[in-house]
Amino acid sequence: MSEIRDISLAPSGEKKIQWAARYMPLLQSIREDFIKLRPFEGIKIAASLHLEAKSAFLCRVLIDGGADLRVTGCNPLSTQDDVVAALVKGGADVYSWYDCTPDEYTAHLRRALEFGPNIIIDDGGDLVSMIHKDMPELIPNIIGGCEETTTGIIRLKAMERDGVLQFPMLTVNDARCKHFFDNRYGTGQSVWDGINRATNLVVAGKNVVVAGYGWCGRGIAMRAKGLGARVTVTEIDPVKALEAMMDGFSVKTMEEAAPEGDIFVTATGCTKVITERHFSKMRDGAILCNGGHFNVEVDVDWLEKHSISTCEGRTSVTRGYTLKNGKTLFVLAEGRLVNLASGDGHPVEIMDMSFAIQALAAKYLADNRDSLPTAVIPIPDHIDYDVARRKLAACGMQIDQLTEEQRLYLESWAI
Ligand SMILES: NC(=O)c1ccc[n+]([C@@H]2O[C@H](COP(=O)([O-])OP(=O)(O)OC[C@H]3O[C@@H](n4cnc5c(N)ncnc54)[C@H](O)[C@@H]3O)[C@@H](O)[C@H]2O)c1
Repeated sequence: MSEIRDISLAPSGEKKIQWAARYMPLLQSIREDFIKLRPFEGIKIAASLHLEAKSAFLCRVLIDGGADLRVTGCNPLSTQDDVVAALVKGGADVYSWYDCTPDEYTAHLRRALEFGPNIIIDDGGDLVSMIHKDMPELIPNIIGGCEETTTGIIRLKAMERDGVLQFPMLTVNDARCKHFFDNRYGTGQSVWDGINRATNLVVAGKNVVVAGYGWCGRGIAMRAKGLGARVTVTEIDPVKALEAMMDGFSVKTMEEAAPEGDIFVTATGCTKVITERHFSKMRDGAILCNGGHFNVEVDVDWLEKHSISTCEGRTSVTRGYTLKNGKTLFVLAEGRLVNLASGDGHPVEIMDMSFAIQALAAKYLADNRDSLPTAVIPIPDHIDYDVARRKLAACGMQIDQLTEEQRLYLESWAI
């Protein structure tokens, strides 16, 4: 049934999945639990994920838990064809390939939903959005869903606010074991991996401009500093701007930073963060890329329409746009998330934690199918603590426990 690029790529994909699984002890332990408990017996799950080795292992864990699973991508440039080939070879039902057209991307989302899922695993909100807009007939069979990323949660909260959300949605990103580590350390490391692979340029001594000082932006700025860059942060939130300043970064508007930057990285979840009025001020050879979920942060449409010429830079993910002022700006990976489009995404151990939450959140939906409200629901604390304890155990670390005297002291106002 699957629709993928080339099944003969499976051996290379299988090696990548095996490698990732080796360093994902949390998901391995959850897999053992799921094999015994079979929490998804009789349940259909549709998942939209960045399809690479770590998410492929999550898919296998869900299948081992009894799920009837259909999977699609969540970005046209993040699916790895060899990995999905290995998944299909192992019996999974996958609809995705790398560098699909917008129509193919939408068709794949639809194919993942057509079998009438009971649980939705979304990353960026595309499945949930398609169900509500185009396939409402699926809603009565849906127990609920889990959303992986900040941008998807923003969309869900807008749906809840407007009274249109039709089933419970758990916000995986809001779990501390997700955004403390995935957004900050995962994006921080992998964005630079993606930039380095695409450009092969030195970071030390460069002026790096990071737009957004949220969880991702903090990580990207921290790692740029570690690589020896001079880092400037742009923000719209005065508190985050002050935090960036106290963390030792220069804080400017994008207009002020535009003429100075060698490398620009956006991580805001907002639209048109770098656009016409900034492009015209930039240095010849400046590099622009994005770590946010959608390709709307760098105004690539404007560059496509108004450049006097375009060229392929070092690789197909490095596109040059020559402006009327004669300067050429290079955009990485079409302004899509550079860590996934030009790299392998977050480090394995980070996604072990994020996908442990996804797996346990899906089980929570299955276990509580009759009692959840139609709302955007934070991940219950016990899941966060379960993942943190599994991670500490996997690292061979122990922490202190409160004594009875300490517990009473902390709970009392009179002592
Ligand atoms: N690349 C990845 O693998 C990856 C991983 C996790 C999250 N994300 C995505 O990255 C984006 C950011 O996520 P986050 O968790 O850091 O969100 P966040 O809400 O913690 O941070 C976003 C920050 O951007 C700032 N901001 C918003 N609009 C701005 C603008 N126009 N100019 C400057 N700053 C602006 C906000 O004030 C906020 O501080 C989201 O789209 C999220 O889905 C990507």
